[in-house]
Amino acid sequence: MTVHFIGAGPGAPDLLTLRGRDLIAASPVCLYAGSLIPPELLGHCPPGARIVNTAPLDLDAIMADIAAAHALGQDVARLHSGDLSIWSAMGEQLRRLRAMGIPFTITPGVPAFAAAAAALEAELTLPQLSQSLILTRTPGRASAMPTTESLANFAVTRATLAIHLSIHNLARVVADLTPAYGADCPVAVVWRASWPDQRIVRATLATIEAAVAGGMERTALILVGRVLEAQHFAESSLYAHGYDRRFRPQSAMSRFVEPSA
Ligand SMILES: C[S@@+](CC[C@H](N)C(=O)[O-])C[C@H]1O[C@@H](n2cnc3c(N)ncnc32)[C@H](O)[C@@H]1O
Repeated sequence: MTVHFIGAGPGAPDLLTLRGRDLIAASPVCLYAGSLIPPELLGHCPPGARIVNTAPLDLDAIMADIAAAHALGQDVARLHSGDLSIWSAMGEQLRRLRAMGIPFTITPGVPAFAAAAAALEAELTLPQLSQSLILTRTPGRASAMPTTESLANFAVTRATLAIHLSIHNLARVVADLTPAYGADCPVAVVWRASWPDQRIVRATLATIEAAVAGGMERTALILVGRVLEAQHFAESSLYAHGYDRRFRPQSAMSRFVEPSA
C-alpha cells in the first residue's frame, strides 16, 4: 500500500500530469484538498473509489483515514492544488507517514504562479531586468512569517515577486513594496488562473488597489516586477548569433569542438 501525493495543478483539468492521472486511476481511495481541486479530476478515480474531501478534516482525521486504507491494503491518491512543494501541508503528512512506516510517492504538479505567468503571456525572468523569482506570501491568521522574510526585505532585491495568499493584504503589499520598486512598477493580479472564470487585472503599484477594488477574493496571485510590462530588454546569449556554445560551436577553434584523435 502506498500514499501517492499528487500535485493537481492550478485548476484546468488538463493541467494534471499523465503520471498523476494514472495514479488517481489506480488508487481505490482518493483524498482531495477541497475546492481548489477541479471536480473533473475526480472523474479519473476508478469505479467505486472512496473519495473524501479533506477540507473539513483536521490532520489527525486525515491520517486516520490513511491508516484505515493502509489496514485494507488500499493505495491512496492524495491531491493538493498546484505543486506540492509550496503551501501544500504535505510536509506534516510526510512526517506522520514516516513515523507510521507507510510508504509514499510524490508527483509534482503545475504551480499556480506558472499558470498565472502563462495567463499574462509573461516570462518572469528577463535578461538584465530580473533573474530571480521570489515565491512568497504575507502573514495570515494561522501563519506568521519568519521575521527575515518580510516583503520589505525581499523588495531590496527588486526581483520579480509572486505573492500568494495575500489578496486581502493588498494595501500592505503596496505600502511595503513601493519604496523599493517605485509607484510606477507594474503589478498584475490573476484570479483563478486557468479556471474558466479566470480574471486578470493589470495596473501599477500606485493604481492596483483601485483597479481591484475588492473584486477579487481568495485564490488570486499578485505578481510584481518590471518584467511584466518590459518591451526593452536584452536578448539572451543562449540564442545570440555568434555565441559560442556546446550545441552551436562557432569555429573549429571553439573550446566545445573535441580535438580529433
Ligand atoms: C495554499 S496555496 C497553494 C499553492 C499551490 N500549492 C501552488 O503550487 O500554487 C493557495 C494560494 O495559491 C494561489 N493560487 C492557487 N491556485 C491559484 C490559481 N488557479 N490562480 C491564482 N492563484 C492561485 C493563491 O494565492 C492561493 O491563495
